[in-house]
Amino acid sequence: MTQYVIRGGRPLHGEINISGAKNAALAILPATLLVDGVCRIENVPDVTDVTLMLEILKDIGATVSPAGGGAILIDSRGVRADSVAPYEQVRRMRASYYLIGAFLGRFLNAQVAMPGGCNLGVRPVDQHIKGFEMLGADVHVNAGFIHANAREGRLVGSPIYLDVASVGATINIILAAVMADGLTVIENAAREPHVVDLANFLNSTGADIKGAGTDIIKIRGRKLLTGGAYTIIPDQIEAGTYMAAVAAAGGEVTLNNVIPKHLECITAKLTEIGVEVKEYDESVLVRRTRRLRKTNIKTLPYPGFPTDMQPQMAACLSFAEGTSMITESVADNRFRYMDELKRMGARIQVDGKLAVVEGIGKLSGAPVQACDLRAGAALIVAALGAEGVTEVGGVYHVERGYEDVSGKLRGVGADIRVEEVDDSEMAGQTG
Ligand code: UD1
Repeated sequence: MTQYVIRGGRPLHGEINISGAKNAALAILPATLLVDGVCRIENVPDVTDVTLMLEILKDIGATVSPAGGGAILIDSRGVRADSVAPYEQVRRMRASYYLIGAFLGRFLNAQVAMPGGCNLGVRPVDQHIKGFEMLGADVHVNAGFIHANAREGRLVGSPIYLDVASVGATINIILAAVMADGLTVIENAAREPHVVDLANFLNSTGADIKGAGTDIIKIRGRKLLTGGAYTIIPDQIEAGTYMAAVAAAGGEVTLNNVIPKHLECITAKLTEIGVEVKEYDESVLVRRTRRLRKTNIKTLPYPGFPTDMQPQMAACLSFAEGTSMITESVADNRFRYMDELKRMGARIQVDGKLAVVEGIGKLSGAPVQACDLRAGAALIVAALGAEGVTEVGGVYHVERGYEDVSGKLRGVGADIRVEEVDDSEMAGQTG
């Protein structure tokens, strides 16, 4: 198993190029199933979740060929209505549930393994199911698979009100509705940049989607979508993570290939705690020269503070002066990484959805274990600012969503080594 060995306390200096957005890619790649032609998708991040999605597309009959420079050519015309994505692959990635919307949209039926850990009862995909049903599909689970079939041999546009502004449900409903008969109106839609990116991609193929980026999205079904070229937006969370890294370690770093508007919610909080952020057209300069201050954070759907940045900010706030409060109001069970931060000396108390982070000015290196993607990012941020050496295990979680994180950090002066270790040693670390 791979781990990162990080000697902290070195300020970061230089430039980092931000990759394409993982979450946009995970929506746009399955959306190519709806397209009658070749799609050239550019700025595709080289991260393992995306590799897995591309493997799934190949396995179900799409032709996938790298075209150099982060571009991928995808021709999904070879996918058949009865193609079934391999169970083992689908189970490894939650976003594989987008295959349901894409298959349903194109073939009027879908048979996809339940994504890992999913519970079809009340949560967390009830809004996806509600959307499919409102469009005229019957949905049921059998033998580990979700089956969705257009009840009367067609899907019909419908108003759909989401009880929660779910990113996944908004995207899945768009995928299913884009070729349905008539008009679908999603109310209380998610407004995240990757929802907008999916809509822009589909519109570039001939779809008629209006309002993406607002909470009302209108989709008028179109019968034929044709291929073309599309460039994925930069990754908001990857950029935010490197901004947090500079906040924790100090120094001055320019992040290139970003959309500063997408970073505003993160920039605002970093500025509040004493980090300087200068915005340019397609880059931001982040500088930290003094001690960080406390703040309070509440995660919210976009344009609020993203839950995917909550762990990295908690790591920063451990280096701050004063006590900060973090309220997690989007995701369940998202404070698990805090026990690992405590191994580094962090003083944090968690009570349900509230975490109280006492800023103690410094952390010290320790062996820690990433339990998920953003938890791993938080531990890296903490390690960069900590005194001494931190061994971060479980970094396969990090590599699901960050392209070449060790190389990018080394490029700005971080002391980070990638090491292979015995699995039994890693297990011993977490107890
Ligand atoms: C996406 C992102 C993830 C991010 C999250 C919130 C991808 C691949 N992943 O996940 O990185 O953390 O948005 O910004 O884009 N919920 C329901 N019923 C549903 C769906 C969701 O109750 O049918 C609730 C759940 O409590 C869930 C919360 O809404 O925890 C947020 O879910 P959602 O916005 O759907 O996030 P994902 O699409 O899973």
